Amino acid sequence: MACRWRRKTPDAPLRPSDGPPRAAFQIAPMTHPAPARRLYIKTYGCQMNVYDSERMADVLRPLGYAVTDRPEGADLVVLNTCHIREKATEKVYSELGQIKRMKARKQADGGTMTIAVAGCVAQAEGAEIMARPPAVALVVGPQAYHKLPELIARAHRASGQRLAADFTADEKFDALPSGRAPGGVSAFLTVQEGCDKFCAFCVVPYTRGAEYSRPIEAVLAEAELLAAQGVREVTLLGQNVNAYAGEGGLAGLIRRLALVPGIDRIRYTTSHPRDMDAALIAAHGEVEALMPYLHLPVQAGSDRVLRAMNRAHTAADYLRLIEQIRAARPDIALSGDFIVGFPGESEADFEETLQLVAETRYASAFSFKYSRRPGTPAAAMSGQVPDAVKEARLARLQALLGEQQAAFNRACVGRALPVLFEKPGRHPGQVVGRSPYLQAVHIEAAESLVGEIRAVEILDSGRGSLSGALSPSPRLEPA
Ligand code: 5AD
Ligand code: SF4
Repeated sequence: MACRWRRKTPDAPLRPSDGPPRAAFQIAPMTHPAPARRLYIKTYGCQMNVYDSERMADVLRPLGYAVTDRPEGADLVVLNTCHIREKATEKVYSELGQIKRMKARKQADGGTMTIAVAGCVAQAEGAEIMARPPAVALVVGPQAYHKLPELIARAHRASGQRLAADFTADEKFDALPSGRAPGGVSAFLTVQEGCDKFCAFCVVPYTRGAEYSRPIEAVLAEAELLAAQGVREVTLLGQNVNAYAGEGGLAGLIRRLALVPGIDRIRYTTSHPRDMDAALIAAHGEVEALMPYLHLPVQAGSDRVLRAMNRAHTAADYLRLIEQIRAARPDIALSGDFIVGFPGESEADFEETLQLVAETRYASAFSFKYSRRPGTPAAAMSGQVPDAVKEARLARLQALLGEQQAAFNRACVGRALPVLFEKPGRHPGQVVGRSPYLQAVHIEAAESLVGEIRAVEILDSGRGSLSGALSPSPRLEPA
């Protein structure tokens, strides 16, 4: 028997302090003017289940669920179960029978009802519950109820429903870059949308839905169209672009795009370390048009924090990946995203982020203070970090990242880099382009250079950009 109340022997009675198992009852309904979605939670057993039911209602509220005191007509029914006695388990199965009949009635009227089994019966008999006729959409154990939004989103996806969450999308965190002006030489090309990763801090899996990849033919056709309009560089976009699931994966797509006449440069963003496969790494060493720049967010350097973030990789995994990528393409410019002050992040955890940054040596990066997004699992986590601490950590991290960016740029001085010129500069007589490493490069030259790739002798560097002059020699470094 699986029960959170630890017992000396399977049959020993509960310690008095555990309190007696309680009869089933409902959480008090909230007064909610016009609940968008009705949530019925039935709680069995101990005080801890009562507490958990309240927390479940808390994590589900931002998704638009308001508690109701009757299961009839509810959109989501959660049975928060107790496994302490056989009788308690039986009661759950008999209740499930009734709920299933209500669900069938609601479906007959064109509605839907999601049934979840939580608590100790879910923990102990989850597989059995799910194996029964498919009325129960999900089971969630006592340690995982904070993941209810994710589990519900996954269950709804599986049944073709969309989650009508009232998560507000946040431009800063979840928007893909918007397309560049038509007529430009560099264009964004969306190949993938959505995310199945469910990082604990992130709203994207809820706001953008499941991972979806455009078919390779559609992407190639759009690239050909862009090339016909004078585009020479495409940046493949996706919330999880390297999870691209079209034919041949992202590496296959890149190899095909490299054959499109007129497309001389290919980039992609944003990637997840878990989807950085061997074929994609090899492409970085072999496909000339694939630019030596990679945005590969790690978020944090502490394994404890990475686990709490549900990132599914460790710091060592990430560093190993970086090593493999650098073996394929030694000069690659690396970029990343970082979050400081994730719930529970200690000073020592943060130091591990600094350590990972020191080992990786980034060419550029984006860093954020953790921002609590209601409805995401992290919002309900204990150990929220005070803003002043986040602020101080962000300042330290950004100072280090800034030094690294400046050092990367300085190391380009004296080199001749191929620059794709994009537009006139801010000052008359200036044109601006991009190096292979995505640095902005300014030179004094005629506007007619726009659209051309030319070797530029790099003469000076700042934190954010380079400047130089057209190279007198025809020598052009690769890429
Ligand atoms: N708080 C802070 N940063 C976040 N990001 C996403 N969600 C949050 C959040 N709740 C950051 C991550 C991600 C980038 C696009 O935005 O670093 O990679
Ligand atoms: Fe959000 Fe990116 Fe994590 Fe997906 S992989 S949940 S988009 S941070």
